Amino acid sequence: MTDASARPRVRIHDLDAVVVGAGGAGLYAALELKRNLGPEARIGVISKLYPSRSHTGAAQGGVCAALGTTEEDHWEWHWFDTVKGGDYLVDQDAAEVMCHDAVETIINLEHLGMPFNRTEEGRIDQRRFGGHTRNEGEAPVRRACFAADRTGHAILQTLFQQCIRLDVAFYDEYQVLDLQMPDGPDGRVTGVVALQTSTSEIHSFRAKAVLFATGGFGKIFKVTSNAHTLTGDGVAIAYRRGLPLEDMEFFQFHPTGMYKLGFLLSEAMRGEGGFLVNGEGERFMERYAPTMKDLASRDVVSRSIYQEIAAGRGVNGKDFVHLDVRHLGAQVLNEKLPDMSGFIRTYFGLEPLTDLVPIQPTAHYAMGGIPTDIDGRVLADEGGRAVPGFYAAGECACVSVHGGNRLGTNSLLDILVFGRRAGIAMADEVRAAEAPVADRAAEAGVTTTRDELLARPDGERPAVIRAELAEIMFSHCGVYRTAALLGECRTAVRALAERAAHVVVQDKGRRYNTDLADALELGFLLDCAEATVASAAARTESRGAHARDDFPDRDDVDWLKHTFAFRDAAGGTPRLAYKPVTITRFPPKPRVY
Ligand code: FUM
Repeated sequence: MTDASARPRVRIHDLDAVVVGAGGAGLYAALELKRNLGPEARIGVISKLYPSRSHTGAAQGGVCAALGTTEEDHWEWHWFDTVKGGDYLVDQDAAEVMCHDAVETIINLEHLGMPFNRTEEGRIDQRRFGGHTRNEGEAPVRRACFAADRTGHAILQTLFQQCIRLDVAFYDEYQVLDLQMPDGPDGRVTGVVALQTSTSEIHSFRAKAVLFATGGFGKIFKVTSNAHTLTGDGVAIAYRRGLPLEDMEFFQFHPTGMYKLGFLLSEAMRGEGGFLVNGEGERFMERYAPTMKDLASRDVVSRSIYQEIAAGRGVNGKDFVHLDVRHLGAQVLNEKLPDMSGFIRTYFGLEPLTDLVPIQPTAHYAMGGIPTDIDGRVLADEGGRAVPGFYAAGECACVSVHGGNRLGTNSLLDILVFGRRAGIAMADEVRAAEAPVADRAAEAGVTTTRDELLARPDGERPAVIRAELAEIMFSHCGVYRTAALLGECRTAVRALAERAAHVVVQDKGRRYNTDLADALELGFLLDCAEATVASAAARTESRGAHARDDFPDRDDVDWLKHTFAFRDAAGGTPRLAYKPVTITRFPPKPRVY
């Protein structure tokens, strides 16, 4: 008999399925779980934030599908662009599903109430975005459906309202800290353990299936478009549980971040006709991408900006260039790009109709993450073994439809297509699964971590280590990398991890202890950084967003493969394994825009 008094005080929730994360992927999965399992199903969405603050809401410019409402388009062209955009590291079977299903997905979303912009004829309006082309590279095509420059916000509200309508249970402001895996990495996932932000109480959510839709980890970098909360919690939890992380070396830098601030100025500004100019007032993208120019893929545009700066053509010798949208006129700026125009006015005090806007590449999107199949099932190894009961979708996952570089507007599409598919697959598993077995060790482990952090009398503040991590990752593992930079970065990240083991939480209270959250998130960030740098150091080629100065060419002979990084439980170097890329239709070709 176990001694009940020795057990930590943990609040128990018994559910059929748990979704962690209330962005687009999580909400669409929750919706499908309810639709497929019926009104009695106990479906819980656990979110670190109030759901409508999820980062999907920050997605601006659009969600793509080859609707062809304003000009000829075909889903196969979209498929090709996605594969080429990803520098041929995309699994083509997965991208086929995404691009083919895109059209139906957008129509479904419209039927759920999504307020898309309309053409004068009342059809869904579409705009241009980087790397989206007609006829496999001939010219830019209008493929992005949008709601002004608040597309993600509108998607989030639409799905949230549908989840409320179907009576999904929301657990707002709970931070998930561990998975329940009572039989270890070879067994089933039977729930999660979370800390309630308002009370610091520990909650055990038991379920027959769990979805991680926890978003990305852009906060490992100093200049980023990601919100403060994007700390890779789900990615790091899976990694700590012995599961692999796929293609972590591929992190996208969006070309048009606001200089120094990192906030995003949507690619839609270029899609609507804006362009980049260097310090000499020259439209330099023609030099690097003669056909697509400013609408080349993001990795190409970001590197071009860096090359202009390195050649001394930054503005006033500094590390930025200009975005010129002055010619777009008041109507386009006010009606199609109102938030972007507002950001420029508010944060820079500039007037987009008359002023040039200072921009620099900003860390934006993780192509890598928790490996999954096309139904969101998490993979335990490079051989494709699925973890029973465990799913992932959205930015925390790697299907892999983005390969080495994601195309703009494919992220919102990814969360919709694969969030929905994961929800349907989970419903099937929930129907067949037995009642979940609790993982008492996970419950006790999370409780101990909280208690030890709150009891520690002194140490370094997490924010100091976090700032140093973000600085070194940006300077040493950013747009351009070398063996020397990555080596220094690895050593630094390891030293920061050692310091992080002794951080102090100065606030000893239990109510909304954001100091405690900072300490916990620091650990997640460090894990994500470790896997990123180790994977980047090993990949001795340049592909997509992974640009090595010391290995400038793509190497399809040795590197047309996905990286799987496994954490070393003893704190040593991660173990790396590799998996072939699935190529079904488009053989790798030189990539020119
Ligand atoms: O530029 C943007 O509006 C971003 C879109 C995306 O990352 O897909």
